[in-house]
Amino acid sequence: MSTVKNVALRFRDGTTRSVAVPHGESVLDAALAAGVPLIHQCRSGSCSSCTARLAEGQAGMRAGASSTLLRSEYEAGERLLCLIEPETDCTFDLNYESDAGAGRAVKVNAFVDSVEKVAPNVVRLTLELAEGETFDFKPGQFIQVRVPGTDIVRSYSPASTAAELPKIELLIRLLHDGVMSGYLEHRAARDDVLELEGPYGSFFLREKVRAPHIMVAGGTGLAPILSMIDTIRNTSGRKPPVMLSFGCATPDTLFCLDDIALREQWLPGLSARISVDRGATGDLLSGNPVDAIREDDAMHADTVAYLCGPPAMIEAATRRLAQIGVRPENIYAEQFAPSN
Ligand code: FES
Repeated sequence: MSTVKNVALRFRDGTTRSVAVPHGESVLDAALAAGVPLIHQCRSGSCSSCTARLAEGQAGMRAGASSTLLRSEYEAGERLLCLIEPETDCTFDLNYESDAGAGRAVKVNAFVDSVEKVAPNVVRLTLELAEGETFDFKPGQFIQVRVPGTDIVRSYSPASTAAELPKIELLIRLLHDGVMSGYLEHRAARDDVLELEGPYGSFFLREKVRAPHIMVAGGTGLAPILSMIDTIRNTSGRKPPVMLSFGCATPDTLFCLDDIALREQWLPGLSARISVDRGATGDLLSGNPVDAIREDDAMHADTVAYLCGPPAMIEAATRRLAQIGVRPENIYAEQFAPSN
């Protein structure tokens, strides 16, 4: 039996690239060595950037590897290419265009512009790139930020868009004993210099899609969703209808409601549903943002969905969207788990 397996990588724009993967090598490593620009970041199974769907053949995880994929994602054929070794010739479908991974991550410096608490456990951190520094990102992608005075990096998706550079806005959840949280709460000051690296990730807005969009955000998962909404708003031509379902635990932990209301005025096709797990009053819905998804939200066969929040929300939203008829390949998700 051949120790080299042939792997076909099919991009969303119809391009297919073939890669020979030697025994003991991951699909990602072999593809990058062959010059195939796959989106990736950690190369160790922790960032989910390199997700692809196994369409044909068999491919298992490298011995000893542990993956961040949800069980439902694995069962649906999702694989992390940095952890996968093909057992047979295989075909993988990538949910992005063949040129999307061509941009390289860069390291840049940025100054702290402002630190504002927008909820008891959420900070809005506004940065400005240092003069002469530049980078680009797609709405939804994430950047890594090094906590000043440490070697620790944390990943955040900007709530702002590339069009707003050199300004960058991040929404950061404060965690008890969190390293970045400690910096933001006790030490951060205007004009501090932060090191950023990016962009990373395959969770980004597919801008040419005009079918209805369902966007589901839990907590600070709202950040990349706001970036996507602003990009849709600023794109010329017909805009897709967007249903945003955003939720937090209680009314006092909600944030950015004014920003959402403003966008509803600016983008007439946007409608927002705001939920809280406990203590709903007035227009707030009781429950989580998945409960707010309705049967008729996916009346269009090409409806797309973007989900960002904790793993349990992603899992529940994916199930719910499948129930109401959203095709699995049209669901894009980014889960985050707090890190201390
Ligand atoms: S590159 Fe991060 S999970 Fe594969």
